[in-house]
Amino acid sequence: MIITIDGPAAAGKGTLARRLADHLGLAYLDSGKLYRAVGLKLLRQGLDPADAGAAARIARTVGIGDLDEAGLDDEATAQAATLVAAYPEVRQELLLVQRDFAAHPPENRPGAVIDGRDIGTVVCPDADHKFFVTASLEIRAARRLNELLERGVESIHSRVLRDMKARDDRDSGRETSPLVPAGDAHLLDTTGLDPDEAFAAALALIEQ
Ligand code: DC
Repeated sequence: MIITIDGPAAAGKGTLARRLADHLGLAYLDSGKLYRAVGLKLLRQGLDPADAGAAARIARTVGIGDLDEAGLDDEATAQAATLVAAYPEVRQELLLVQRDFAAHPPENRPGAVIDGRDIGTVVCPDADHKFFVTASLEIRAARRLNELLERGVESIHSRVLRDMKARDDRDSGRETSPLVPAGDAHLLDTTGLDPDEAFAAALALIEQ
């Protein structure tokens, strides 16, 4: 069974995906971490994320084993990730990694839950269940601010809101695999939902 969960940053995709995967005994992949891993490797090697050729070379070396790195959650990594995610060569390399994960989930699991931006549209267009998870920009920025403060990262609301809006615009406006809902995705707006309610709503749609 393949379940795809797409949507903008901090809409609640990761929490929902992890809970569905646990509940259904499926493997879980946060595909954003692959793009972050490319961004982080570039930064660590002193390369410029605006250099498409360097990003494509690095993408060829990134795999599932790179997703536990400290530093993947940093804001600088997120900004580098959103740049490299616009390059078709990078997306093509990471597409292979994601499709392989879906076809051969680790630990012989009977399927996978994958979250990202283009999973239901490009990576797994034949998935069994697709969700497009959204929430208002304000609530997503507030959630991200809380996350950052909890991790001890000094942050201010206006800056988080501005960075999130810039990332939304870039993810939705790029030519290759922009952030759009698949035609057959269930839309789930989590603006007024807590994680338990979002999970219950998604599970009900799957069980229907
Ligand atoms: O979900 P995230 O913030 O970890 O994603 C990091 C960046 O990677 C984000 O700017 C969008 C991009 N991304 C993408 O283009 N396609 C995906 N399937 C997942 C993430």
